[in-house]
Amino acid sequence: MSTDDWKRQAAEQALSYVEDGMKLGLGTGSTAAKFVELLGARVRSGLNVVCVPTSEATRAQAEALNIPLTTLDETPALDLTVDGADEIDEELRLIKGGGGALLREKIVAVASDRLAIIADHTKRVDVLGRFPLPIEVVPFGLAATKRLITKLAEDSGCDGEIKLRLGSAGKPFVTDNGNRILDCAFGAIDDPEALDDALKLVPGVVESGLFLGIADIGIIAGPKGIEVLSGIEIDFEEEI
Ligand code: 5RP
Repeated sequence: MSTDDWKRQAAEQALSYVEDGMKLGLGTGSTAAKFVELLGARVRSGLNVVCVPTSEATRAQAEALNIPLTTLDETPALDLTVDGADEIDEELRLIKGGGGALLREKIVAVASDRLAIIADHTKRVDVLGRFPLPIEVVPFGLAATKRLITKLAEDSGCDGEIKLRLGSAGKPFVTDNGNRILDCAFGAIDDPEALDDALKLVPGVVESGLFLGIADIGIIAGPKGIEVLSGIEIDFEEEI
């Protein structure tokens, strides 16, 4: 089994939560793309859903699969969002934003009754922070924003290199919202809530990739089977 197979297994499991007539949020990234692909097949065979994509990339994929789309302006409350993550801990706390879509992902997740995270087992961590934390910032005053993030993060027990994410041809990566991403290599984030609170004090920060208290279920597929995290309960469901 490869990482790709595990991502697909997690996506298949999440599909079992989808019911006819649901309003869905569609995540971003390679794992979420597998869910969108499977959903497209179900829509082709008659499933009736309407979906809000969390990025232009996901919108393009969903459109190509003829999945009916809406917006949060037309449909402000969703039943379920299915998305990937860069890291997930036992308390369903997440780091997201590796694909640069964290702001729309958080808006869509919070507009949903439930957020289901699908991931392969490499994303499961004991302590968040091995993956550099993405922070979406406005381009104006970037150096001052970075300086304040550095200081407030230090006050919350986090320090490490903060790098402006680059995209193609070495130019700064631009999010779907016209913003920039700072990737913060803090290492272990012992108190994610304190860091999250501190980042909210920085005017140039739009959102951070810390998703705390937002996810309801984690479906993590790996060599030992599928681990389902729900609250603090952990079930090992099937052996592969
Ligand atoms: C995009 C995200 C993705 O969910 C995260 O990066 C995981 O991606 P992948 O499934 O490709 O590993 O947060 O902003």
